[in-house]
Amino acid sequence: MKDLVSKLDIEENGATMNSFNPEKLVEMYDATGELGLYLIFDNQLHFGYWDKNNPNASLSEAAARLTQIMIDKSKILQGERFCDLGCGVGVPAIQIAKAKECFVDGITISKYQYDKGKKLAEEAGMSDRVRFIQSNALAIPCDDATYDGGWFLESIYHMGHRQALREAYRILKPGATLLIADLITGPNTSEEFKTFAREQLHSDHIPKEDYPELLDEARFDLIEIDDITESMMPFMVPKVKAGFKQYEAQILQYVQREVMDNWLRVFESVCENLGYILVRAKKRVCP
Ligand SMILES: C[S@@+](CC[C@H](N)C(=O)[O-])C[C@H]1O[C@@H](n2cnc3c(N)ncnc32)[C@H](O)[C@@H]1O
Repeated sequence: MKDLVSKLDIEENGATMNSFNPEKLVEMYDATGELGLYLIFDNQLHFGYWDKNNPNASLSEAAARLTQIMIDKSKILQGERFCDLGCGVGVPAIQIAKAKECFVDGITISKYQYDKGKKLAEEAGMSDRVRFIQSNALAIPCDDATYDGGWFLESIYHMGHRQALREAYRILKPGATLLIADLITGPNTSEEFKTFAREQLHSDHIPKEDYPELLDEARFDLIEIDDITESMMPFMVPKVKAGFKQYEAQILQYVQREVMDNWLRVFESVCENLGYILVRAKKRVCP
């Protein structure tokens, strides 16, 4: 598997990473930009949600549906401040700002994503309500208790769950809702995959059973955990294949076909090894 990603030019000289490494992470996201993954996901860097209501949805439609499910779970109100922790190029941030008429700060560690997010917000006429901050989400340049709500939408596994929750606790107001969309380990997760994810995808995945204690320790009250693995994993690979086919000519301008094939194998491996949950929690009013 290592061989597979070295071909993607993400990792150099077989170098490994055992803990969070911002430089490698930035390199990976800036590289994927060129690989056309942004294209097939229509700039939403997260998995899609399918069920009997949208079995034929494309990757980008199903990814937008997942964001909508997160928006529906959010308690943010008109005019309040929301923090998108690990915001990609800001498509979900723009989507929630429009839906809830709130103000959103998108935090990303990647300069590429920060620049593109600003551009997309401008194009959507949302720059007055969606701002981007290029920062490590473990040390956000803001006062304590700044935000009325927030989410980690497929980003917490890059940050270290404990540290990320600690910073989320600091920046949220007491009683604020925190949402987390997370790829989790389960009975099918092999040790080989865990090592691959840690070293090559800069991701550390945990089982859903760890969440109650982690949240409690971070002084959040757990409200619900929805396991949505079955609405996602069986659909992803065929949809990624379809996306690559649809945008093949454009993607091949950036990379060789082999790179697309390797990315497909990464998706296959993620879908075989991981599950997916949506978590809703609330920052304790009295810690
Ligand atoms: C899989 S992408 C999800 C992006 C976005 N939430 C979406 O759904 O489109 C993971 C994101 O987390 C960001 N990220 C990972 N670790 C970070 C950190 N320590 N600080 C800030 N951003 C981080 C990456 O830059 C990337 O934007």
